[in-house]
Amino acid sequence: MTPDELKQRVAEAAFIYLEQQFQTNWVLGIGTGSTVNCFIDCLARSSQTFVGAVSSSVQSTDKLKAYNIDVLDINDVSAVMVYIDGADEVDPTFALIKGGGGALTREKIVASIAHRFVCIVDESKLVPRLGEFPVPVEVLPLASRAVAAQLGSLGGHPKLRSGLTDNGNCILDVSGLEIDEPEYWERIINDIPGVVTTGIFSIHRPQEIFVARADGNIDHRMGP
Ligand code: A5P
Repeated sequence: MTPDELKQRVAEAAFIYLEQQFQTNWVLGIGTGSTVNCFIDCLARSSQTFVGAVSSSVQSTDKLKAYNIDVLDINDVSAVMVYIDGADEVDPTFALIKGGGGALTREKIVASIAHRFVCIVDESKLVPRLGEFPVPVEVLPLASRAVAAQLGSLGGHPKLRSGLTDNGNCILDVSGLEIDEPEYWERIINDIPGVVTTGIFSIHRPQEIFVARADGNIDHRMGP
């Protein structure tokens, strides 16, 4: 199967599973990326009713609105029942690297207020240890040089990504980190002055993961 077909498969499998549980008072959290785009397509085809969605990016907001799905302001929402999102890497303990699409900060905010986080990936995203995919770090533009120096002193090789995030910040993509303790690395990077968010999702990791295997079969795994 092609990578696009796998994304579609895994999004559909997660959708079918969640659709059976939908309740009319649900607010969904919607992540960002090509896999989540497939999930939004499923939502649009569904006759299920729910209150609406909170979105992690302008890109997802535009897609949801194009399907006439209500997008709610995060400040107006008291609870997000389920957050659905992809990932760039997933380790065996369900710690993630996210932010390849630049939406890491809003993604982490939605993950932090969601009762459940369901991650949807193809098996190419599964890794024994995080860090081969460079860790995106969103930083205030005025601090990019200072933060890059700090990340360098931690053994990383930061590279400034071109363009700005939806929040008007820059992203440093940090390679060379050996992330054997994701929570330690998440906290230590978050503590650097000028950092807005790190793309290591260890404190708010998913409880469930749907994985599309290369042959198209789907694994539904519960968190350790
Ligand atoms: C967006 O910022 C990312 O966190 C995405 O969730 C991640 O890059 C996965 O994207 P794809 O589904 O496009 O692979």
